[in-house]
Amino acid sequence: MQIIKLSATESTNTYLKELALVKNLEDFTVVVTEKQTKGRGQMNGMWESEDGKNLTFSILKKFTSLTIQDQFLISICTSLAVYRSLMAFKIPDVRIKWPNDILSDNSKICGILIENSISGLKIASSVIGIGLNVNQITFENQPKATSLYALTGRTIDLEDLLHTVLQNLDTYLSKINPLNWEMLLEEYHSLLFRKDVLSHFVLENDAVFQGTLLGIGKEGKLKVRLEDGAVREFALKEVSLRY
Ligand code: BTN
Repeated sequence: MQIIKLSATESTNTYLKELALVKNLEDFTVVVTEKQTKGRGQMNGMWESEDGKNLTFSILKKFTSLTIQDQFLISICTSLAVYRSLMAFKIPDVRIKWPNDILSDNSKICGILIENSISGLKIASSVIGIGLNVNQITFENQPKATSLYALTGRTIDLEDLLHTVLQNLDTYLSKINPLNWEMLLEEYHSLLFRKDVLSHFVLENDAVFQGTLLGIGKEGKLKVRLEDGAVREFALKEVSLRY
């Protein structure tokens, strides 16, 4: 495993994607930094993280036969690897919020940004970016964010945690295989935030509706039972869960 450590960079995802364009990197190359000047989040959002306090890193994962329709397996395996790591550090009440936010006590402790490189009908490689809030104490203007320190009062060694997450990622990403869909989906569902709970959802046009979150289909769409009993599936950009 090659680990590239940078004192600062715009975004570890951007750095790794650009490096992979000019260099033949080995599978599971990792880029980690203490400071991102333009950390990126899902849906073109930003990722804010206090310098030196948290983990911000990205992994290049290469695939040989993963098809586009199975790409949600990457989200599942990454979320489960982070979950397992947090269990090793005895973090309470950890849940996965679809598609791949990690919450504890209803607040977000980890965000994941997966950027795939596609070749024909296959995923050739992914850059998996992970932002894990570890020792940051306060989160101004981020009411939904928390950190492991805020949850437990313990300062955690960033190197220790990084190596635990990388080890779990190595284990889970090696399970990415369509034959493992049922097993991985079952584990993901058992940890899914608000599963079988009546919740509010927000559509792209800001309209709000109520429904029961039933789970995830194989393509990674969210299945919701609406108030009239109909079951609808929503793709990633179509809907968000209000919490
Ligand atoms: C989200 O919006 O929840 C996803 C946040 C992902 C943040 C991580 S930090 C390391 C990597 N580099 C980035 O620019 N983003 C990801």
